[in-house]
This record gives sequence, structure tokens and C-alpha cells, in this order.
Amino acid sequence: MLVLDGKALAATIKEELKQEVDVIRQAAGKIPHLAAILVGDNPASQVYVRNKVRSCEQIGFRSTLIRMPEDVTQSEILTEVAKLNNDPDVDGFIVQLPLPKHIDEDQINLAIEPRKDVDGFTPVNIGLMTLGLPSYLPATPNGIMTMLERYGIQTTGKEVVVLGRSNIVGTPMTVLLSRKGEPGNATVTLCHSRTEDMAFHTKRADILIAAIGRPEMITADMVKEGAVIIDVGINRVDDATKKRGYRLCGDIDYAGLESKVSAMTPVPGGVGPMTVVSLLMNTLQASKS
Ligand code: GUN
Repeated sequence: MLVLDGKALAATIKEELKQEVDVIRQAAGKIPHLAAILVGDNPASQVYVRNKVRSCEQIGFRSTLIRMPEDVTQSEILTEVAKLNNDPDVDGFIVQLPLPKHIDEDQINLAIEPRKDVDGFTPVNIGLMTLGLPSYLPATPNGIMTMLERYGIQTTGKEVVVLGRSNIVGTPMTVLLSRKGEPGNATVTLCHSRTEDMAFHTKRADILIAAIGRPEMITADMVKEGAVIIDVGINRVDDATKKRGYRLCGDIDYAGLESKVSAMTPVPGGVGPMTVVSLLMNTLQASKS
């Protein structure tokens, strides 16, 4: 069984990006600049944004982190978004999700200038992606596409089952995998919380992509022999034996899988680092346009 080592692959791609940034710096004297808005103190979001900022430093990008308190108002966030939209020094920016319950995420997303939307979440970029036109691709699905490509995992004609219909992972994943060309050309099924018999679908999957946010919900008996398993879930489960009081696990229960599947991503160190790399690639693209 092959371990799809997202951490190592991300390190390789970051090294490639770093070299490109060095060339740009010498030629134009300008380096790509990513900004991130982080609202409140969601512990997982803090870790993700810290990783994004640290990755920018590693490859020579500029980064700016804008922190806002949990009780921030909708209009205060919109003001910050407008500033970033109009700041010629910022090539691209993200608003880390989830936002606090009292904030209307859709309204914030709609306010982001599509040319700076390096997360690929705005309607313009989602529309362009769906039409197969150049756009910023959403970070996690694109990270998975990069991983499949770099590991030489063919998708043409394969049965791919995606679990979870979120706007930022499951739904765009189905669009990218069914596009013409490799990686793509797959026959894609999207399962979600109202799917009647999830196991019926998962057992048919040559490639199974789980993005449901339910700890270890998919067990070995639900998986096809020889399948490729991509686990997007990063769940915190209480565990008194750990120093932090919790352990991280994916949506897949790995017990008994090693001898059954052909390849799988670890959690952590699988899809997560690839998401960050996609964001960096989009930011580099933004800085060139
Ligand atoms: N929350 C979980 N994943 C993501 C992501 O890729 N981008 C943003 N902005 N928020 C997220």
C-alpha cells in the first residue's frame, strides 16, 4: 500500500515555488503578497492560518494576518474586505472559514474581488471553473488533483465517489474530476447526508474521497479492494491519553485498510498540506496578473 504523503509532496512543490519567487524577485523586485482575515479564536482555524502564514515565509512570499475578534460585526469585516480589494500591494487574500454564527458568510464571500479570490470561493471563480475556463481553483480540491497527478494516479474512466457536498470541497471536487483530461475524465458520484445507502456507493469506488467531517465513519468493510483513499477530514476526538486531551483523525477508520487498499492519505499530513500549496500557487498566479 502506497502512503500518499502530502507533507513531503507539499515540501517539494514549495521548493519549486521558492525558486520561482527568487526569479521574480530578481527580475521585477516584487514578491507575491497574501493576506488572511482570521475572525475569532476557533482553534483549528488558528492552526490552519498559522500554517498558511508560515508557508508564505518559507517560500519568500509576503503575508499579512488580520485578526478580528469573535464579536466583530458584519460591516467591520466588509470594511476590511473592501480595503484588501483596493490595496494594490495585496495580490490575493482569504477569509478563513468558518465565521462566527452571527456573520453571513455568503455576503462576505460575495464582497471579495474575484481577481484577488485566491481561495476560489466567489461565484465568478466557481462559474469559470465549472465552464472549464482559467480561474482560481478552490484550494482543497485542487490540492487533491495535484496529489493525484504527481503520484501518477489515473482517473480517466474510474469510478470516483465523493462524500460530502460542501461548497468548498465536495461539490467543486466533482466538477474538477469530471472535466476533460487527466486528472479528470472520471465518472463521479456525490454522496451526502441524505444518501440512502452510502456503503452501496463507497464499495464501488476506485477512488474514494471523504469530506464529511465525521470521525472514522468509513470502515474497511465499506471500501473496495485496491481502492485509492483520499481523506479530507481532520476531526478532533477526545482522548485522555494525549497531552492535549484530543487526537486528530480523518473521516476514514484506517483499521484493516492497509491490507485492502492500494493507496491512502494519512491524517494529518495528507490533504492538509496540499491545500496550503494550492493557495500559494494561486497567490503566485495572482501576483503575475
Ligand atoms: N476552512 C476550511 N478550509 C478552508 C479553506 O480552504 N479556505 C478558507 N478560507 N477557509 C477554510
